[in-house]
Amino acid sequence: APIKVTKICCIGAGYVGGPTCAVIAVKCPHIKVTIVDLNQSRIDAWNSPDFKLPIYEPGLENVVREARGRNLFFSTNVDAAIEEADLIFVSVNTPTKKSGVGAGSAADLNYVELATRRIATVANSSKIVVEKSTVPCRTAESMRTILEANSKPNCRFDILSNPEFLAEGTAITDLFNPDRVLIGSLQTPEGLSACNSLSAVYANWVPQERILTVGLWSSELSKLAANAMLAQRISSINALSAICEATGANIDEVAHAIGYDSRVGPKFLKASVGFGGSCFQKDILNLVYLSESCHLPEVAAYWRQVVEMNEYQKRRFSKRVVDTLFNTITGKRIAVLGFAFKADTGDTRESAAITLIKDFHSERALVNIYDPQVEHNQIWSDLADAIPQTPVDSIKKQVTICSSALEACKDAEAVVIATEWKEFREIDWEAVYAGMNKPAFVFDGRLLIDADKLRKIGFKVTTIGRAE
Ligand code: NAD
Ligand code: UGA
Repeated sequence: APIKVTKICCIGAGYVGGPTCAVIAVKCPHIKVTIVDLNQSRIDAWNSPDFKLPIYEPGLENVVREARGRNLFFSTNVDAAIEEADLIFVSVNTPTKKSGVGAGSAADLNYVELATRRIATVANSSKIVVEKSTVPCRTAESMRTILEANSKPNCRFDILSNPEFLAEGTAITDLFNPDRVLIGSLQTPEGLSACNSLSAVYANWVPQERILTVGLWSSELSKLAANAMLAQRISSINALSAICEATGANIDEVAHAIGYDSRVGPKFLKASVGFGGSCFQKDILNLVYLSESCHLPEVAAYWRQVVEMNEYQKRRFSKRVVDTLFNTITGKRIAVLGFAFKADTGDTRESAAITLIKDFHSERALVNIYDPQVEHNQIWSDLADAIPQTPVDSIKKQVTICSSALEACKDAEAVVIATEWKEFREIDWEAVYAGMNKPAFVFDGRLLIDADKLRKIGFKVTTIGRAE
């Protein structure tokens, strides 16, 4: 019979491990959940008495308040949590490799391997080990080999793949009410039994028909495929936005018309300055690498184009700003509203705003930045990484971080909307206009504002996917 899970350990207290396992703790009060990480300051933040959590996610604080100290614990004692658990999620980061074989496209599996080896070393009893991180197809095989080669005599390890589909900014609602939970296992009696154990955990709140059980390799590949297809929709609509700008068609109207076809559907068709986030690019490149490894160059080229279109979209947008401002922005002040890669998150990984600011910086513009959630230190460290040849002190001569949208727009020639924060829709645009140099330009990279209303105030407005 499948073992009944009573203690869960999650290795990796990041954007995925933290919210996912906090929700499991809330929904399964009978299960003790311990989330561990090597990063002491991250764990301290999860444990902070005033709930200053390490990530910003609507609804997360309430979840942690409900379960922390009851059946939810955060710790740096990785070994103790592994030792007592029956089921272990591996939820560590899997970034794109920066050097060595597959640099620039393959996933760096070092953290997954270190966590796996730690499990093998520490475990004195049998465990179900669950890949939560996004990994290349057949990683479970490597994990099993490592675990079996290092295990103690009476320990058996069953490996499951259980990729996470939450999106940042809506993580808690996504976890409370997932479209589906996907569990991959070997189709052996032991594999299926482990799958049932994990499935029973989710069954505490997820309807049975939304818990999909498949083979291990299908599960691993489905995660890469899902992100690739989502990103492909954005690159498709962004490619069309370029045609709209050239022809006078309106991308919002086009997206609306296409999305009405029930086979296409209306969601995820918003043209933008480009997708960001830690995963879309990384996971597509991972799929590209997999395709190349399988000697499928045409398939690799097909998916790579999704990333290239995204780079093109960001470049195109910066160029449009420069072109519109009479072909030079040198010495001009530009207010960039939004630094996070999407609204309702403080996460800046691969944010399109970073690329735009880098471009403006290289044109020697003065840049004012405002974002309601991103920490100032994060902005400086992202800019230092993006503009490596320039010391931060000299970046600071051109770039200023502001504490409100109004402040950022003061004395600017142009306002660039880079993130779709709701508060940017509600800005007092009359006041912004009064404080700006004239002509005052607005560039909407997110189809966020009412362009006609702003034109009435006096702004010159340029919108993505429209001729003006
Ligand atoms: P993250 O960087 O926020 O968190 C990973 C954490 O793992 C870090 O805090 C790190 O210190 C810790 N860690 C690394 N090695 C460790 C070890 N050996 N022992 C203990 N802790 C260790 O990453 P994330 O955004 O949570 O992503 C994790 C995985 O989930 C990635 O594979 C990612 O592709 C996938 N994913 C992410 C999202 C998302 O929205 N961010 C969504 C779905 C899937
Ligand atoms: C994405 C997927 O949506 C999740 O299902 C997946 O689990 C996750 O990646 C992951 O594997 O990390 P996330 O990156 O958090 O989630 O956020 P999205 O809402 O997908 O947005 C990604 C980027 O695309 C953002 O920059 C967003 O602004 C942009 N986007 C999104 C658009 O430009 N247009 C759209 O219509 C939708």
